[in-house]
Amino acid sequence: MKKIVLVGYMGSGKSTIGKILSEKTGIPFFDLDEIIEKNTQKTISELFLEIGEIKFRKLEHETLNHFLATQFSFILSLGGGTPCYANNHLQLLKEGITSVYLKASLQELIRRLEPEKKHRPLIASKDGEDFQEFIAKHLFERSYFYNQAKYVISVDAKMPAAIADEIISILT
Ligand code: S3P
Repeated sequence: MKKIVLVGYMGSGKSTIGKILSEKTGIPFFDLDEIIEKNTQKTISELFLEIGEIKFRKLEHETLNHFLATQFSFILSLGGGTPCYANNHLQLLKEGITSVYLKASLQELIRRLEPEKKHRPLIASKDGEDFQEFIAKHLFERSYFYNQAKYVISVDAKMPAAIADEIISILT
């Protein structure tokens, strides 16, 4: 149990659960968005504004490839879109990598994301029904990629520490 990758939609708890999992297992935690922000010295929102989504996806792809080629023990939280572009989902099928999809329901994601959408470039400008419809369609399109993870864990109505324990019990 050394290379663990957490996938899931924005707001599914990847980073929070990844950090707890790291504390409980002693395996170092990394967040792909944070690596990109550190490398570029820009926030994800600034990158979306300055270089646009397509160049961001290329950067995300290169950063993931470099990470997987150079790190040998990790818990890695991906961005919500990472597995859905540039064939990144194939990386998760590689031998030795344990991918876990943190699956939240549409209703739960809408509830969690509504109050904090300002900080998320893809949904910052969406309101009301437009916002709900966007998340529904986006989640539907992305589920194909998320579901290729080795394990799928439902996260609705569960505390992050309990989810981390569930992941540990699956992996040991
Ligand atoms: C994105 C999710 C974000 C970040 C970027 C794009 C997406 O990461 O990579 O804003 O396409 O779903 P989190 O899922 O960690 O919020």
